[in-house]
Formats: sequence, structure tokens, C-alpha cells
Amino acid sequence: METTISCEPTSLIDAELYDELVTIRRDLHRHPELSWQEKRTAEKVAAFLDRYHIPYRRGVAKTGIVAELPGEEDGPVVALRTDLDALPVLEETGLPFASEVPGVMHACGHDGHTAMLLGAAALLARETQLRYPTRLIFQPGEETGRGAPAMVDAGVLEGVGAIFGGHVDRHFPVGSIVVTEGVVNASSDRFVITISGQGGHAARPHEAVDAVVVGSLMVMAIQTIVSREVNPAHPSVVTIGRFDAGTAANVIAGQAKLEGTIRAQDEPVRRHLMKSIRRIAESVGQLHGAHVEVEFREGSPSLWNRGPATRIARLAAERTVGASCVLEMTSANMGGEDFAHYLEHVPGCYVRFGSTRPGETAFPAHSSRFDFDERVLAVGAAFFHQVALSAMETWASKGEGSEA
Ligand code: NI
Repeated sequence: METTISCEPTSLIDAELYDELVTIRRDLHRHPELSWQEKRTAEKVAAFLDRYHIPYRRGVAKTGIVAELPGEEDGPVVALRTDLDALPVLEETGLPFASEVPGVMHACGHDGHTAMLLGAAALLARETQLRYPTRLIFQPGEETGRGAPAMVDAGVLEGVGAIFGGHVDRHFPVGSIVVTEGVVNASSDRFVITISGQGGHAARPHEAVDAVVVGSLMVMAIQTIVSREVNPAHPSVVTIGRFDAGTAANVIAGQAKLEGTIRAQDEPVRRHLMKSIRRIAESVGQLHGAHVEVEFREGSPSLWNRGPATRIARLAAERTVGASCVLEMTSANMGGEDFAHYLEHVPGCYVRFGSTRPGETAFPAHSSRFDFDERVLAVGAAFFHQVALSAMETWASKGEGSEA
């Protein structure tokens, strides 16, 4: 990315608040917690909200927190969301505030996202009048893909006119905000194929049904779904990441298990991939006399930023960093993001915050050496503050909200 960014991100919020956000981010980074175990993280969030006299509910979907700033009118509510959880990764950054929990690391920037939303909470609390209520959603379990649906089930979207969220992104320079209409993240589902053949002596294959051979044919046949059955204009991926079978070199395996993941941007393609995997797996099994079971574990749908909420996000981004620092993605990220679940229920927009230090090649998210330029904390806090104000302004000018 060759874009030169002229704005100085830290000037977007006052120095005292910026220092506070850096401190809390480093504290969360030092003490990461896995999905659904974000207890200490929730305590830190609660303590910050207490300092700014912002009312909140704890224990929402286990470890989540929902805070709300009242408006002059009852609704529509502007919702802002962050994720709280870390990953099972052994940190190798060498940072002075590196994880103190062996095998657990904030390798996806959720420590930063949480600090950003707290920054926005502080900025919103300073506003003398907010037209509509603002709800701050501190969501657990994003990495499992089940955090957002659990928060939806807990009722956090009640009365919401639009929801906004964002992610740090190493592909863009710090100081930029990336606002893209359309699909920005792929759907993400898993599947497990269990093959039951007949084990036997390696020297007598005619007495056995070899699950390794059946599984191997299945792996190759499944590769033809994306290459031969899906319109190449609609990006999709099927990866088999795990193949378990066999016990010894001279024993024919009677059982095999394949595990994989499916990514797609379009819902019809996503459904087609699932149907085809089942059809091919069962057919290959039948062809060779093996019993086959296919199980799907549905994750997040694709994340689709719709027009009106995206226009609000773009307006807010321009007001935050200036139009020249508002960028667009040229292709969707094929990773999943459970924010997509919120957009099944209410309008909203998911943005990316450029987080790469100038002149540096950043390590990817989920890597043991992942880090980001902390100045992005100021960008995120200022954006979330501004997007709440911009949504209220847009809705008020239209007379009624909820058309985000
Ligand atoms: Ni993430």
C-alpha cells in the first residue's frame, strides 16, 4: 500500500485520554483471556465505565458488557461494538507488555478494539446532549463465531437503528479508515466427514475397505467443487485442513476423518458448497462401499455493508481523518467476522482501521508476532465517537431514524 497519509492520528483525541487508552490496551495485552473467559477484561471495562459514570449491565452472554448513554429522545439507538477475546497463541513479539499468560495472546487486536470503544465512551460521555441513545457492546467469544449471536439472543439489538464496528488492518497505514460498501468478509463454516470402511491386513486389501484411499479420493473430488461448479466471479474456498486415519504401516485403516472449512461471499454459493460437499462425499463412499457421514458446523454468514449505514460510516470517517485518508478495500477479506450476525437483524457497517507503521511490514493477525501501531487507538476512538454523532444527525435530518 503506497498511500501517503498526512494526518497525525494522536491529535484526534486529547493526550490525556490517548495515554489512558494506551495504558488499558497494554494492560489487556499483558493479561489476555480466551473466548468466554473474559472475566478480568470485563472488570477492566467496567472500572473504566465507572470512572466516566456510564451505566452498564454485566454478565450479558456470560462475560459481555452492555453500556448505554441516554439520548434526549428514546430512539433509534446507535450501537457500537467491540470484541474482547484473545487467541490460543504463544506470543513471540518480545514487547515489554507481552502476554504473561503462556499460550494465550491478543493476536487479533481485540485489546486495541476494546480500548478504542472505551475511548469513544469517554468522548461521548463528555457530550452535553445526545439526541438518541448510544449502546456500547463489549462482546465476548468473537473467535468462536458464537459471541455475536449470543449477544443478539440476549437482546442487545433492541431498538437499534444501526450498529457499527471495526478491525485493525495491517494492509493499510495508520491514520486511514477503510470504508467499503458491499461484502467485506466471507462466510465461515466448518465440516467434518467421517468415513467408515473395513480395516484389515495391509497384504490383503481385497478383504478390506480402505478408508485412507476413500478419503484421498474424496479430498481430490471435493477440490472440483470450487473449480468446476462455482461461478469464478463469486469467490469461494473449500479447504480440508485435517485428515486423520490409520494406526500402523501394515494395517489398512477402517476409519478416516476429514475436517475442513468453507468460505464464500454469496449466500447461494455458500449453500451450494455445503450441498456439493455432502453429495460428493456420500457418492465417493458409495462408490467404494464405505459408510460416510457429513456434518456441518455453521459459523458466520458473509459480512455485507449496506448503502445507508455505509454512507454514515464514510461521513464519520471523513470527519475523523479527512477524505484523503478514507480508503476502500479492493477485494473482500475471505476471513470470517461474527459481526455479520448483527447485520442479519439491523443495518450497520464494519470498517477497517489502518494499523501499519510507516515503512514497516506487519505480521498478519493470528500470528505469534502480530502487533499494531498504537496510534490507531486514537483513530478508532475518534471514529466511534463521530459515527454515533453522524448517525444521530443523519436520522434527525430525515425526521425518523431506523432507515440507516
Ligand atoms: Ni479479530
